[in-house]
Amino acid sequence: MKKIGIFYGTTSGITAGIVDEIEFYLKGKEYQVYDVAEGVEEMKNLENLILVSPTYGVGELQRDWEKTFEEFKGIDFTGKVVGIVGVGNQLAFGESYVGAMRKLYDVVSRKGATIVGFTSTEGYRYEETESVIDDKFIGLALDESNQDNETPDRIKAWVEEIMPKFN
Ligand SMILES: Cc1cc2nc3c(=O)[nH]c(=O)nc-3n(C[C@H](O)[C@H](O)[C@H](O)COP(=O)(O)O)c2cc1C
Repeated sequence: MKKIGIFYGTTSGITAGIVDEIEFYLKGKEYQVYDVAEGVEEMKNLENLILVSPTYGVGELQRDWEKTFEEFKGIDFTGKVVGIVGVGNQLAFGESYVGAMRKLYDVVSRKGATIVGFTSTEGYRYEETESVIDDKFIGLALDESNQDNETPDRIKAWVEEIMPKFN
């Protein structure tokens, strides 16, 4: 398998912890972690990508993702396999739960990526989200504020599912 690039943004640090957990389940695989505060240039050179953003505002991207969004939109994702991870709070922000995933999804799908790792909405208690298509989350939805006990199993299952689909 070719190298995996994990790109994340975080404002209050929770998503950095999520990335640590993802790394745990990638043991033995070749991967590199990139904070999008440093830009997304390296995305162009990688064929396997995991994109991770918490949601801010009402269903918006985290601020470092916002800052680099123009550059991100300019990337050609043809031939790349992409998994998306959203971090949010389904009780406090239940009408825009993990909305940031949709912002990432819309770009990479329009620009030719193969998107992997859609997941079941069972076990979540949000009201609304733009990050569900055909009854599935368009990536892995995590909630450290209300369901942190579920996170390790959710990540493990998701990583196992997407690994065989990477280039
Ligand atoms: C001002 C503000 C707005 C937020 N908006 C949303 C939202 O629309 N949807 C959601 O699921 N979570 C929302 N959240 C929750 C954050 O995504 C959540 O706390 C996340 O774990 C923060 O990740 P970070 O510590 O990596 O920045 C919001 C949090 C704040 C402080």
